[in-house]
Amino acid sequence: MSEINGLDINAVKESFQAALKKVTNLEELDDIRVRFTGKKGDLTLLLRSLGKLLPELRKQAGQELNKLRDEIEHTLDITGRKIRESQNEKTEISERIDVTLPEKGRSFGAFHPVIQTMHEIANIMQGLGYSVATGPEQEEEFYNFECLNVPKWHPARDMQDTFYFPDGTLLRTHTSPVQIRSMLKYGAPLRIICPGKVYRRDNDTTHSPMFNQMEGLLIDKDVPFSVMKGTMSEMLNAFFGKSLKYRFRASYFPFTEPSMELDIECVECSGHDEHCRVCHGTGWLEVAGMGMVHPNVIRAGKIDPDEYNGFAFGIGLDRMAMLKYGISDLRLLFDGNVSYFMSGFEGGESRC
Ligand code: PHE
Repeated sequence: MSEINGLDINAVKESFQAALKKVTNLEELDDIRVRFTGKKGDLTLLLRSLGKLLPELRKQAGQELNKLRDEIEHTLDITGRKIRESQNEKTEISERIDVTLPEKGRSFGAFHPVIQTMHEIANIMQGLGYSVATGPEQEEEFYNFECLNVPKWHPARDMQDTFYFPDGTLLRTHTSPVQIRSMLKYGAPLRIICPGKVYRRDNDTTHSPMFNQMEGLLIDKDVPFSVMKGTMSEMLNAFFGKSLKYRFRASYFPFTEPSMELDIECVECSGHDEHCRVCHGTGWLEVAGMGMVHPNVIRAGKIDPDEYNGFAFGIGLDRMAMLKYGISDLRLLFDGNVSYFMSGFEGGESRC
C-alpha cells in the first residue's frame, strides 16, 4: 500500500530523499526536519490520517508509516552528525594555532629612571669608599630637625613643612637625619651615603610631595673643603660621563657651616641658549645642597667636633634623572606610561 487517503507514502519518501541530497548545512537540515516531521509536516499529516482508514487497512499502513518515520529520523540524525563533524574539521583547520611561530615583540621591564640614577650614583660613591646607610621615612622630629641644629622656633622649618602623625613623628623632609643616626651607630671616621624618599608639603608642576634624595656624609680628622669639592666633581663627571663646569653658590643650611649649593653647567645648552627650557637662560642648574658639617651636628652625633670635622651633601635624585635622561616634566616620573621612557632607554640613549 502506498497511498493513504490520497497521500502517497512513496512520494513523501522520495521527496524527503531528494531534499536531503541538497542539504549543505544544519539550518537546511532543520528546515527538512520541520517540513517532514514537524506539526504540519508531510509525515505527521500521514500519521494523523491513519485514524480515518478502514480498520483492516490501518494496521499495515501504520506499520509502513512507522518504518518510514524511523528511517527519516535516523537519516536526519546521521546527516546532522556528518555535517557537524565536517564543520568542526573546517574550524579546526582555519583556527589552528601554530605553536612553532615566534612570539610577537615584547618589552622587558626596566628600572625607573630615578631608581636607575640612584643605583648609578650609589655605585660611583661606593667606588669612593662610601657605604650605604638607611633610616626610616617616618622619622622622629628629634632626628629630622632638633639634632640638625633646627630647633622648634627656627624659620628653616617653614621651608620644610611636612606631614605629622598624631604621635609627633613625621614624614622626613630630607635624608639628613641619617647623618645623625649613622654617627650614633658607627662613630668616626665615617663615610656614608643614604638614598631614599623624602616628603614635603609641596605640590605644583616642579615640586612633588614626595621626591628622592641622596645624602652623603664624610667625617674624619682635618677634612679640608677641597675634599668636598673634589668628591662632588668626581661624582658629577662620572655620572654624566663628561667633564661639566660646576660652581658653588653660597647658601644657608642650619646644619652646615659654611653652606652652599652646587650648580652644574646646563646639560641642554651649556649656557648658550637664552631661551633654554631647562635652565631658562641662566646656564646653570642647581643639583645639590652641601657644606661643612656644623659642630653642633657632630656633637649631636656623639662625636667630638674638636677632633673631627667633615662635609655633607644632599643631591636631588629626581632632578639628576631628569637632566641625564632628558625628561622635561617632573610629572612624567609619576606617570604609569612606560613607552615614554622605553624609547629613550632601550638603546641606552641619554642626553649626556
Ligand atoms: N638636607 C638639605 C635639603 O634637603 C640638603 C643638604 C644636605 C644640605 C646636607 C647640606 C648638607 O635641602
